[in-house]
Amino acid sequence: MGAEIRSAIDFYERHPISCDIILAKLKASRGHLEGLTPDELFPHDQDHYGGLAANDTLAARAGIGADTRVADFCAGLGGPSRYFAHRYGADVTGIELTPARVKGAGELTRRVGLQDKVRILEGNVMQVPLADGSIDVVVSQEALLHVPDKRRALAEAWRILKPGGRIAFTDWVAHRPLSGADRALMWQGMAVTDLYDLPAYAGLVREAGFSIDTVEDLTREWGEILTQRLAMYRKLREETQAAGTPAGHDAFYESYVRFVDLVNDAALGGGRFAGRKPA
Ligand SMILES: C[S@@+](CC[C@H](N)C(=O)[O-])C[C@H]1O[C@@H](n2cnc3c(N)ncnc32)[C@H](O)[C@@H]1O
Repeated sequence: MGAEIRSAIDFYERHPISCDIILAKLKASRGHLEGLTPDELFPHDQDHYGGLAANDTLAARAGIGADTRVADFCAGLGGPSRYFAHRYGADVTGIELTPARVKGAGELTRRVGLQDKVRILEGNVMQVPLADGSIDVVVSQEALLHVPDKRRALAEAWRILKPGGRIAFTDWVAHRPLSGADRALMWQGMAVTDLYDLPAYAGLVREAGFSIDTVEDLTREWGEILTQRLAMYRKLREETQAAGTPAGHDAFYESYVRFVDLVNDAALGGGRFAGRKPA
């Protein structure tokens, strides 16, 4: 296993949002966990910027509808996968690297009764455990930044899509090259690998064989979302420090603070890409 893959797993094994934490919060608020619904999970299980609205935009770009066979690359705890199944009636297979998240995704999916429409498989998007031409749509959100060989992940998307299949994803982009210190900080704190600017990333998508429908710059939108999230993290950190408990993963916090600055300076940002495999 390469250093990048090990580092992504280490990062997500320690991630503050986990299945156990989500279930503990729900138990505290509703008293028990019987009869949980997907809608009750959605405020907790989406690990990307923009929540359910971002899922809806991606679904529109990719044309997700009833029974669309979707592959969700880097599915995390399966939040978006469950949303596409619950809201649109899609049949979703998530591919997720970190074993603890695969296990958590399975438990959350069973608890809300979506196991016939959603399955999260343990796997690496650089080597996807799905057959050629077996999928209508590939989606991914805020995850390919961890994948060291994005060309290979895009080639895998191409391979599993049927002719005429669609791809739509959001990811970090670097509008200008980062300094060595910032690259090191992003790698150490958040397991971030090589980043591209919007035209270069669109070039990778084309190189994999896709025609491009849309490329959208999400940087300003993300700047606002991230600034609010940072304020929330800061408050939580201050509360835990005031309570005398350890404030948690410092490398993450430091890199996150710098990430938000870099997005607000438009050095880093987000992109949404949509394209299709020729019919
Ligand atoms: C920010 S989370 C996003 C999760 C999900 N897309 C969502 O929006 O809730 C990124 C996820 O990518 C996974 N991941 C990182 N590298 C991967 C790889 N090479 N193959 C599959 N999953 C990967 C991580 O384990 C993590 O769960």
